[in-house]
Amino acid sequence: MKSAPCTGTFVAALYFATLWNVVSSYSSGNGSFPYNFLFGAATASYQVEGGWNLSGKGENIWDVFTHTHPEWIADHSSGDIACDSYHNYKKDVKLLKKLQVQVYRFSISWARILPNGDLSLINHSGITYYKNLIAALREVHIEPMVTMYHWDLPQALEDKGGWLNTQMADYFKNYASLLFTLFGDQVKWWITFNEPTEVCTGYVSRDAAPGVVLPGVGDYKAAHTILQAHAKAYHVYDQKFRSKQKGRVSITLSSRWLEPISESSEDIEASERGMQFELGWFAHPIYSKSGDYPPLMRKIVDEHSRAEGLKYSRLPSFSGYWIKYIRGTADFFALNHYTTRLVTSGEEGEIPSKEHDTGVISKVDPSWPSSASKWLKVVPWGFRKLLKWVKSEYRNPPVFVTENGFSDHGELEDNDRIYYHKNYLAELLKAINEDGCKVIGYTVWSIMDNFEWERGYTEKFGVFHVNFSDPARSRQQKKSVEVLSKIFHLKKLDEADNFV
Ligand SMILES: *[C@@H]1O[C@H](CO)[C@@H](O)[C@H](O)[C@H]1NC(C)=O
Ligand SMILES: *[C@@H]1O[C@H](CO)[C@@H](O)[C@H](O)[C@H]1NC(C)=O
Ligand SMILES: *[C@@H]1O[C@H](CO)[C@@H](O)[C@H](O)[C@H]1NC(C)=O
Ligand SMILES: *[C@@H]1O[C@H](CO)[C@@H](O)[C@H](O)[C@H]1NC(C)=O
Repeated sequence: MKSAPCTGTFVAALYFATLWNVVSSYSSGNGSFPYNFLFGAATASYQVEGGWNLSGKGENIWDVFTHTHPEWIADHSSGDIACDSYHNYKKDVKLLKKLQVQVYRFSISWARILPNGDLSLINHSGITYYKNLIAALREVHIEPMVTMYHWDLPQALEDKGGWLNTQMADYFKNYASLLFTLFGDQVKWWITFNEPTEVCTGYVSRDAAPGVVLPGVGDYKAAHTILQAHAKAYHVYDQKFRSKQKGRVSITLSSRWLEPISESSEDIEASERGMQFELGWFAHPIYSKSGDYPPLMRKIVDEHSRAEGLKYSRLPSFSGYWIKYIRGTADFFALNHYTTRLVTSGEEGEIPSKEHDTGVISKVDPSWPSSASKWLKVVPWGFRKLLKWVKSEYRNPPVFVTENGFSDHGELEDNDRIYYHKNYLAELLKAINEDGCKVIGYTVWSIMDNFEWERGYTEKFGVFHVNFSDPARSRQQKKSVEVLSKIFHLKKLDEADNFV
């Protein structure tokens, strides 16, 4: 916390500039991606690793959540074994090679390395697992992109209040610092948190661990701590590691595109308000020129809190120090995107809740193709609009799409998945070529079928099939691998024309 608060902004601006110069020096046209555009695939520790109690790993909140309340998971399953990537990581690297990706985005299980969450115990078996995985990737020239926190908080830290406890920012900083020390010579792409809005859902309802039900309060509080934790990790990198390791650090934010249901000014305002509550909540403090939460969000939650007779706003405040400390703490914009909604103004959700604060009713167009996931409708054009919104809202940062994907029931002839990726990639290309968005990478969720949180194994996102009845968890290629591997290798979308 001793650094000049503007360091982050300055360094980020530098990185923005250099990253984009490299990419834009090669024009893209005729369905081609920029010369050094990066293609990747992603997973998360709890969804694929298994080995939940092996080699001294501590319990995390998803272990406890699935074991104490199997009925909260669609098929009463857990990630105890999942894809058993703890034993199969070499097989996973082969799949990645087959898909012709340049980047593998995976996450580290905090409790596998720090069973108690803090530095009181460091388990070297956990460290060895990730060292081996990173070495296997490097051997075949795949860049690791490491997510530090993809939702599996050590239970020992949840017992201290989890993300509702502001001290968690320092526990996270220590953990991040250890990861930079251990892996930073080999890892050049770092993501602190995956989808913090989803992390906050764990403090709203029982849809996610830890299942603490405090809507409109717990989520805002958790977010506040997460933003501080992220910024601390970023500044540690700046102060102690960046000059030697020369990597990049960001935070993965997820967002739908919220399209106004009509051209009325009320619906356009509803869309803007929805975007600020959904993406701006975390993006505005980090990427905007002024920092802090979106002014609109500040105003609405303050007003609602007063109307509810509260002395303080349910949305916590940052001091001037913290606003500057958090602003600029990202070297690129890491974005997850899956789907779109049509929105109009109106009251939804209980009082209090973030949903109610947002004041937006969202709908789907019945003509939009479905997936196996209720929430996931196929709307390729929404992707382009979202990328454009990020460009205009945050001064055109380089964007790395860290997740995009489609769920079905595990079909090997996964034509709907091919349609999804082909069309979302076409919109991404339009965003680059016609809108001037600086998109530098695209990551498929996921390399293989895995444990889909509260949906268990009922929804499959993999481009490789996993046989979950087979003790060996054998993997099998789906048709989408044929198509995507061509696109990724040649960096040309037309290569997939025969398939769609
Ligand atoms: C696209 O293809 C056309 C026809 O082959 C060619 O004339 C044009 O120069 C190409 N554009 C780019 C940007 O490569
Ligand atoms: C790990 O958990 C499994 C059940 O998932 C159990 O059968 C096994 O004995 C446990 N192993 C250890 C080392 O505790
Ligand atoms: C990791 O934990 C396991 C189980 O508690 C223990 O056997 C092993 O010695 C630990 N490894 C190290 C090096 O700390
Ligand atoms: C999955 O594995 C089980 C057990 O090894 C095997 O009986 C079954 O045929 C496999 N299913 C498929 C679709 O390969």
